[in-house]
Amino acid sequence: MASNFAIRTNGLTKQYGQAVAVNKLDLTIKAGQFYGLLGPNGAGKTTTIHMLTTMTSPTQGDAWIAGQSVLTDPVAIRGTVGLVFQDSALDRMMTVDENLKFAAALYKLPPKQATARIEELLTIFGLENKRHMKLVALSGGQRRAVDIARGVLHRPDVLFLDEPTIGLDLPNRRAIWRFVEQLRKEEGMTVFLTTHYLEEAEACDWVDFIQKGKLQQGGSPNTLIRGLATYILEIDCADTEAVYHKLSADFGQPIWEDNHLSFRVIDNKVDFSQLQKSLGNAVNSLQWRKPNLNDVYLWTVCPPQTGAVV
Ligand SMILES: Nc1ncnc2c1ncn2[C@@H]1O[C@H](COP(=O)(O)OP(=O)(O)O)[C@@H](O)[C@H]1O
Ligand SMILES: [Mg+2]
Repeated sequence: MASNFAIRTNGLTKQYGQAVAVNKLDLTIKAGQFYGLLGPNGAGKTTTIHMLTTMTSPTQGDAWIAGQSVLTDPVAIRGTVGLVFQDSALDRMMTVDENLKFAAALYKLPPKQATARIEELLTIFGLENKRHMKLVALSGGQRRAVDIARGVLHRPDVLFLDEPTIGLDLPNRRAIWRFVEQLRKEEGMTVFLTTHYLEEAEACDWVDFIQKGKLQQGGSPNTLIRGLATYILEIDCADTEAVYHKLSADFGQPIWEDNHLSFRVIDNKVDFSQLQKSLGNAVNSLQWRKPNLNDVYLWTVCPPQTGAVV
């Protein structure tokens, strides 16, 4: 297996009894890429990461990390991957420094090397002044930063981040992304991310959607977004049926939520003010905006139900 692929899977499958959590996944992720696996709760994201990091065995298929098989080389793989899970692996009653030293010992890093690496990571994560604080005393964002630092102590080739920003507020989410970006730049790590905050995945080189264990359409976020629409037209309707009948011939099936309709607009020459005038009193407000990955998900992974709205 060529090892310029950081990750490769072939028919990777996990079944729990009759339930198929991950269904014949075929992935190739090049070294150094920032990859996003996106999907709703229960789609199979965590199970995929568990198989790729040898925490659970596939029931069918195989996967390779830097050319090593999860079936035959699990020990080698554990040395080349870093993991950051939703449930923290840290001890909250220990200080930042103690947690990182403890983890370094588990990784069997020689003490001198461990101290240097911990210093380096405390600097990247802006935690130099917090090193003697117990984790309970830190903010959620700072604790997550320590979690990531712990996950990369041994300079893994591939870093797995399972919903790393869940439960964090926006400034902390941004900070976490800055740290990840810095790690990627300075250490050339491949990053395998799962998230259901889809807008965060727009920095990925490539994203795939997963739904009920099956891989859906994937691509670079830009290509997916550009391929979806030029604009998303959002309309609060006074007369929803009237707006629907007037616009669906031109713009196709909308997403319909109560009295709100969203249409995909592919043509970039639409005169929206004119359109609003022509709809008159049927419309309370009309806005248009650039599409994003959430829209790609809504339209292509969960497409509008034809006929369900009339
Ligand atoms: N240990 C397990 N035993 C039985 N079913 C499981 C187990 N772990 C996960 N599942 C099921 O597998 C599916 C995928 O779960 P998961 O990978 O955790 O999804 P995600 O991370 O995308 O939310 C879900 O239906 C979940 O209930
Ligand atoms: Mg999960």
